[in-house]
Amino acid sequence: MANMLTIKNPATGDVINRIHLHSEAEIEAALKRSHDAFAPWASRDAHDRSALIRAWADKVKAHQDEIAELMTRENGKPLKESRGEVTYATNYLDWYAEEAKRIYGKTIPANSPAKRIIVSRQPVGPVAAITPWNFPVAMMARKAAPALAAGCTFVVKLASDTPLSGMRFIDLAYEAGIPRDVIQYVNTSGKVAGELFTKSPYVRKISFTGSTSVGKTLIQNSADTVKHVTMELGGHAPVIVAEDADIDVAVEQTVANKFRNAGQTCVCANRILVHESIADEFIEKISVAVKGLKVGNGLEDGIDVGPIINEAGYDKIKAQVDDAVDKGADVTAGDQYTIDRKKGYFFVQPTVLTGVTLDMTIMHEETFGPVAPIMTFSSLDDAIEIANDTPFGLAAYFFTNDYRTGTYLHDALDYGIIGWNDTGISAAHAPFGGMKESGIGREGAQEGIEPYLETKYMSIGGFD
Ligand code: SIN
Repeated sequence: MANMLTIKNPATGDVINRIHLHSEAEIEAALKRSHDAFAPWASRDAHDRSALIRAWADKVKAHQDEIAELMTRENGKPLKESRGEVTYATNYLDWYAEEAKRIYGKTIPANSPAKRIIVSRQPVGPVAAITPWNFPVAMMARKAAPALAAGCTFVVKLASDTPLSGMRFIDLAYEAGIPRDVIQYVNTSGKVAGELFTKSPYVRKISFTGSTSVGKTLIQNSADTVKHVTMELGGHAPVIVAEDADIDVAVEQTVANKFRNAGQTCVCANRILVHESIADEFIEKISVAVKGLKVGNGLEDGIDVGPIINEAGYDKIKAQVDDAVDKGADVTAGDQYTIDRKKGYFFVQPTVLTGVTLDMTIMHEETFGPVAPIMTFSSLDDAIEIANDTPFGLAAYFFTNDYRTGTYLHDALDYGIIGWNDTGISAAHAPFGGMKESGIGREGAQEGIEPYLETKYMSIGGFD
């Protein structure tokens, strides 16, 4: 059907819903409304904006199970992860409801007693965002909450695979009293939204989470009108397991990180580098743990790993595994598949590959799937060189109980996020973002509101 979008459950291929696809004219009208709503929203006092964002958070908390179930239906992730994501998203609302009240200016000593210098902060203007299917509500909340707190208005293009939970999440903002034109969603397929957002004279900032290639296009297209950009792009996270690491901790943490959301996260381990002296034990333990993960429909009890989002995602994963095996990798867990191309569901059994080498595609391209490739190293400096030999710089993890090794690794790794004996790095109160081609700007924490603010400085004379 033209102008309708069909949303399917990736675990069964069943149709969940059909929703209206916005036309170009409707999207332009939404941007115009966002522009018109900006001045009144920006001029409301910070305590008022804060209270509305807090009320939104309370509404979401009261509807956590409903949103989580919708998310599992459209995204496939296990229900326990969907519930966790709703909490994760709500944490951004709570955090930025507070930060709204802490947008401080300053005074600077002038170079003359006759002058005063005052610096103040203002919202950048209407924001247009594009959010991904892998975290349908958390990635949106991480942009919307600081935008609204700063006094910006917000239009988001939700991911075409998973718009339903995001739509419900935003409907709750209206129920909480946030004016309709202050936060809006649009649904389009393909590149339409990106093109309209970047060329719109009404939009002052683009915020995007998604692939590096799309991010580059959005940055290029934003240049004509010199828009602000926040880009949270791809990753290829290394995990370094040093000689002295606690192997049980390293295995537990690596499995939790690698197989979260079926490995469809931009911060999940994509290269596991293990010191040769402990490799056998690490491989044996991780293979046992991975074989114990239960794959299936995320709505069912006890499921750890859901389906792959779609056929293109599945094909990419399978091609990377086949390439590695063709080039000599061994499979110590997984490499089994349950698919129905016609209905449209794709499950990949969590897989461990060993004997991995640098000529394999999986060591360079983001997998976005439940595959853990393991390579050994003999010197820490070699591991660091391999870890940094990538255009990406989002998250990196290492395991060591030696503070000198840990500090050395921290300083040497070119990554925006570092986990030391810890892979649970995602939190509303910490600055999330990447170096190099993994992005521009940070989301979360105090840093996450900065990209939504302009700095205005005023010099006042005549005090003599
Ligand atoms: C992502 O995969 O894009 C974000 C993951 C996270 O916030 O933990």
